[in-house]
Amino acid sequence: MIELRDFRDEDVHDLFRWRREPEVDRWMYELPPEQFAAHQQWFDAHRADPKRRGWMIVLNGKPCGFLHLYGISKSQRRAQWGWFIGEADARGRGAGRAAQALGLDQAFSEFDLHKVWSEVPAGHETALKAQEAAGFRREGYLRRHAFKNGEFRDVVLLAILSEEWAARREKVRANLISSGLIAG
Ligand SMILES: CC(C)(COP(=O)(O)OP(=O)(O)OC[C@H]1O[C@@H](n2cnc3c(N)ncnc32)[C@H](O)[C@@H]1OP(=O)(O)O)[C@@H](O)C(=O)NCCC(=O)NCCS
Repeated sequence: MIELRDFRDEDVHDLFRWRREPEVDRWMYELPPEQFAAHQQWFDAHRADPKRRGWMIVLNGKPCGFLHLYGISKSQRRAQWGWFIGEADARGRGAGRAAQALGLDQAFSEFDLHKVWSEVPAGHETALKAQEAAGFRREGYLRRHAFKNGEFRDVVLLAILSEEWAARREKVRANLISSGLIAG
């Protein structure tokens, strides 16, 4: 069963470990923090920033990943989406999709957003498929937009509007409930 919960002080350690994991780092724009102190600073700044909101993704009571909204704009009623499943054995089992459904509910209720958008590296089929399954649509394609480890990477822009999630929500949730991934 997947749940989202607010950050606790000790989550900084899981987040540090996960962010440095090659399969997570592979899809991030920036290099991972080398020093724990820099990561602690990021965590503290994240929690203090009213334009950011993060949750731990919890699988059967144990944290397995991270989901956040950032660049939350109350005037524009939009925010950007970021997420990862940090525990390797929790990937590919529906945890991401379940967390996504819970996160979209939070985004559209807690912040009264109209739009949630995300940047996904081109070729990241797992993320693209998972986000499109919830109703995210492709809005753009940024050529050679990210630069890391000496290579440029193209980026796909995805977004979902509040009414699109409202239209898709019941079906997505019913599927996750029948798989035992979220509570009914
Ligand atoms: C991208 C990411 C968040 C997706 O989360 P995930 O939990 O691995 O993805 P899911 O398990 O929800 O979906 C992946 C597959 O599992 C399948 N799956 C397995 N069991 C499932 C179930 N019970 N219910 C629904 N889907 C299930 C899905 O159908 C999907 O398969 P498909 O793509 O062939 O259709 C995760 O893989 C990840 O964190 N990767 C590394 C970091 C990263 O890429 N972050 C995002 C950067 S944009």
